[in-house]
Amino acid sequence: MERSLVYLLLLIGTLAITYVVQAQSQQGFISLDCGLPANEPSPYKEIVTGLQFSSDATYIKSGKSDRIQANRESDFPKPYRTLRYFPEGIRNCYNLPVEKGRNHLIRANFAYGNYDERDISPKFDLYLGPNLWSTIDFQGRENGTSEEILHNTTSNSLQICLVKTGTTTPLISALEVRPMGRDSYITESGSLNLYFRTYLNETKDYLRYPYDVYDRRWIPFFYKDNWTQISTTHDVDNSNNYNPPKVALATAAIPTKADEPLKFEWSNTEKPDEQYYLYSHFAEIQDLRSNETREFNIVWNGGEVISDPVIPDKLVISTSYSPSPRTCDKGECIFQLTRTNRSTLPPLLNAFEVYTVIQFPQAETNEKDVVAIRNIEAAYGLSRINWQGDPCEPQKLRWDALNFSNTDISTPPRITSLNLSSSGLTGNIAAAIQNLTQLVNLDLSNNKLTGEVPEFLGNMKTLLVINLSGNDLNGSVPESLQRKGIGLLFEGNPRLSPPGSSTKRHGRSILIPIVASVGFVAILIVLLVLFLVLRKKRSSTVKVVHPSSSRPAVNATSANSFDPSIEMKKRRFSYSEVMKMTNNFERVVGEGGFGAVCHGTVNGSEQVAVKLLSQSSSQGYKEFKAEVDVLLRVHHTNLVSLVGYCDEGEHLALIYEFVPNGDLRQHLSGKGGRSVISWGIRLRIAVEAALGLEYLHTGCTPPMVHRDVKPANILLDEHYKAKLADFGLSRSFPVGGETHVSTVIAGTPGYLDPEYYRTSHLSEKSDVYSFGIVLLEMITNQTVIDRNRENSHIAQWVGSELNGGDIAKIMDPKLNGDYDSHSTWRALELAMLCVNPTSANRPTMSHVVIELKECLESENSRRNRSRGTDSLNSSEVSTVIDSGMFPQAR
Ligand SMILES: *[C@@H]1O[C@H](CO)[C@@H](O)[C@H](O)[C@H]1NC(C)=O
Ligand SMILES: *[C@@H]1O[C@H](CO)[C@@H](O)[C@H](O)[C@H]1NC(C)=O
Ligand SMILES: *[C@@H]1O[C@H](CO)[C@@H](O)[C@H](O)[C@H]1NC(C)=O
Ligand SMILES: *[C@@H]1O[C@H](CO)[C@@H](O)[C@H](O)[C@H]1NC(C)=O
Ligand SMILES: *[C@@H]1O[C@H](CO)[C@@H](O)[C@H](O)[C@H]1NC(C)=O
Ligand SMILES: *[C@@H]1O[C@H](CO)[C@@H](O)[C@H](O)[C@H]1NC(C)=O
Ligand SMILES: *[C@@H]1O[C@H](CO)[C@@H](O)[C@H](O)[C@H]1NC(C)=O
Ligand SMILES: *[C@@H]1O[C@H](CO)[C@@H](O)[C@H](O)[C@H]1NC(C)=O
Ligand SMILES: *[C@@H]1O[C@H](CO)[C@@H](O)[C@H](O)[C@H]1NC(C)=O
Repeated sequence: MERSLVYLLLLIGTLAITYVVQAQSQQGFISLDCGLPANEPSPYKEIVTGLQFSSDATYIKSGKSDRIQANRESDFPKPYRTLRYFPEGIRNCYNLPVEKGRNHLIRANFAYGNYDERDISPKFDLYLGPNLWSTIDFQGRENGTSEEILHNTTSNSLQICLVKTGTTTPLISALEVRPMGRDSYITESGSLNLYFRTYLNETKDYLRYPYDVYDRRWIPFFYKDNWTQISTTHDVDNSNNYNPPKVALATAAIPTKADEPLKFEWSNTEKPDEQYYLYSHFAEIQDLRSNETREFNIVWNGGEVISDPVIPDKLVISTSYSPSPRTCDKGECIFQLTRTNRSTLPPLLNAFEVYTVIQFPQAETNEKDVVAIRNIEAAYGLSRINWQGDPCEPQKLRWDALNFSNTDISTPPRITSLNLSSSGLTGNIAAAIQNLTQLVNLDLSNNKLTGEVPEFLGNMKTLLVINLSGNDLNGSVPESLQRKGIGLLFEGNPRLSPPGSSTKRHGRSILIPIVASVGFVAILIVLLVLFLVLRKKRSSTVKVVHPSSSRPAVNATSANSFDPSIEMKKRRFSYSEVMKMTNNFERVVGEGGFGAVCHGTVNGSEQVAVKLLSQSSSQGYKEFKAEVDVLLRVHHTNLVSLVGYCDEGEHLALIYEFVPNGDLRQHLSGKGGRSVISWGIRLRIAVEAALGLEYLHTGCTPPMVHRDVKPANILLDEHYKAKLADFGLSRSFPVGGETHVSTVIAGTPGYLDPEYYRTSHLSEKSDVYSFGIVLLEMITNQTVIDRNRENSHIAQWVGSELNGGDIAKIMDPKLNGDYDSHSTWRALELAMLCVNPTSANRPTMSHVVIELKECLESENSRRNRSRGTDSLNSSEVSTVIDSGMFPQAR
């Protein structure tokens, strides 16, 4: 059948069939007739389908409407006769309300119809949020074209954007969004791009709503040379998760020569590595005699049997689908149904869907940040032409006035900088700014802002630079803005008094110098002066304080700063060096316990993560010192290494090696678009984290307890190599007779060793306990403490489930059963041993390392086994025909 079928799909209009069908609910459907003139009724009922189409005007702010040439109108159904085109701006976007976390069919339809009478074929890009979806090219598509995907939405708003890429003007005719049923069309990763969807009938009529409750379009296809059509007049039960139209199931194709297979072939030489998901729908529609059977195998690529034998149920649908994607041999794809030896009848097929995988890897900008910036936009009545679509991506279309942190493609970018300088703003400082919770730079200078400086600015933990100069603010600057580390500019506000001054007086703070020109240099100067002054103040009055506690390693002579050994001195950076390496804290990559974490570069190329301690509470300072102390002493490939630190007056910062791939918690939860990692990789991460802990416990003198082992503190590099981080709570304990020390309890609830909690006696077995909890999380992907669970703590939950003996119930469902059950049992037993309430019964980390390595070996050898074979039971090649998918006959 080659590509001809695929081209068929691109046709719009032609014949839709007009049987009378019970009207179906159109709940959740969005059907937009783009560019429908305001004087035409909206919504209206489309005559063939009965779909309620409405104008697109409420979902988009830009573009103009037009209509295809009159002599072409009869070729297209009404929704495609008008269109919206976009002569202005590079990117223009629709913003549609959808249900987050639900699969949606999204179809965009385009008909040029020479509306502009210039007879050129437009070409432009179509984006879904920050990701390229497709390139629309009208060359050779005079009858229009459409794009259709099945996509699981990641937020409550869906951005569909048209992006000008050349000289021609983007346009769109109709947009259709349909919420799909749950538990269908599930992929391992990515979304589904329609390749073809067909029902086997010799007719010319295509099917859609109302025959299809989800308004999928089914194109008839029939290979007359080799196939014979069979049909039934009975009602076929179509109710399973896929619900194809009943009429599509009422006919089927069988091979004319009963011994031949029923064969679909297509070639995709442009993209030979394309990944496919296949959905085939069967129902027996012939009356079988008692001595007749119909049974067949599904065969892929000419030889690979990808299912158990199929016996279609009488007048009841069954659907076969592949849980993982398939690839073709050099782009030549062959799908065939081959009868088994015991079958007396040829195979049959009623309907067939093929999708390719389309990845939308770039995460959308953090949803809360987007809401906040929209609120700020509304508060100031801004109308910026490029504030459309995703604010951050693609980068060339990034919104003006903003900058972002983007650690990597799968983490939602966060807004770190807002520069509305000289934007004619009036009114107060907008409250919505406080919802930009990762904001580092705020520039509102040279506007006409009035009112007081709000308190909330001082409470925004990540803010480092605020420029309010050149406005007409009044009152006094709130005390909260005196927070250490904030650089504040507010000159040129004649009615504004400096922080702390109760009397309203004109003039400026002694602390804040008069800076005539705005800009980066000015901010630098202010910051410099600020901290020089503050530092002086601190050394004269704030002779502190930070008890060096019972830690033998810190040889603190001065309580106020370190006693730096030569080695430590070498790695000490000044605050101005920190500002330089982070380019003025430009790129925030995360939020630590005490402040922002910024990306930086030292020595020109070495990437670092700079953890700033914005609030130097005494606890914070203590932990800061502990961490510097620990990290300068320990060196291990599975511990994050310290490049240096800054301890200058009020400014404290830790400079680590940059570990680019987020933390284990993100990879387990799939949060921020992180991919779900396989069992093999989880085991490797567990081994590496265990090696890091083993080193702390036995490899360094004096030995150390980490005290805060949890997935968020296990960082992953680009090769998923694990590195333990956050040594702020770590403690050394003396070697020799005593194996534990008494300390103030610290740690994270859920991971905290109950024995340590009870007795305050700390030993390395507390880390073993926490590690056991981490291991349980890696195995089950359950929350550590879930109050809605009967056994709220994960260890209790696993304990009670283990009694059931069914490991599949315990294992993380996201692993899809793809693991060696020997290794999972063993890891589970090990984890339960680690979380033994009595520390003496827990294994040592060295023992844990040995056990985990063996688990890893057993998992690896399973993977190697299954890769080579072609057998039916190998996980890589088998297709599941889920028996749950077959409804019982009524
Ligand atoms: C869509 O995403 C949600 C939330 O991530 C998930 O619960 C659901 O199973 C997904 N649905 C499909 C069809 O993949
Ligand atoms: C467009 O449709 C007309 C009439 O249906 C047909 O004759 C023509 O070949 C089609 N053009 C393309 C490019 O498919
Ligand atoms: C399928 O084919 C049968 C027999 O040729 C025909 O009666 C029927 O209308 C067709 N179904 C559709 C949906 O066109
Ligand atoms: C059709 O039948 C012929 C002869 O049996 C065979 O060679 C050919 O591969 C078949 N084509 C398809 C698409 O099934
Ligand atoms: C099944 O039985 C019928 C008669 O009842 C006979 O005509 C037919 O040949 C048989 N078919 C097979 C495959 O044995
Ligand atoms: C079915 O036929 C194949 C060869 O066509 C043969 O290898 C296999 O053993 C047969 N199976 C049975 C159950 O007869
Ligand atoms: C900030 O966000 C919260 C919800 O996250 C919302 O309720 C609140 O109204 C927002 N505040 C402003 C000032 O927009
Ligand atoms: C904000 O933008 C203005 C120009 O519009 C520029 O002069 C100023 O330096 C920017 N502020 C920051 C903090 O980058
Ligand atoms: C935004 O941040 C990036 C680094 O994250 C930097 O390269 C770029 O210059 C910044 N853009 C502006 C306008 O400040």
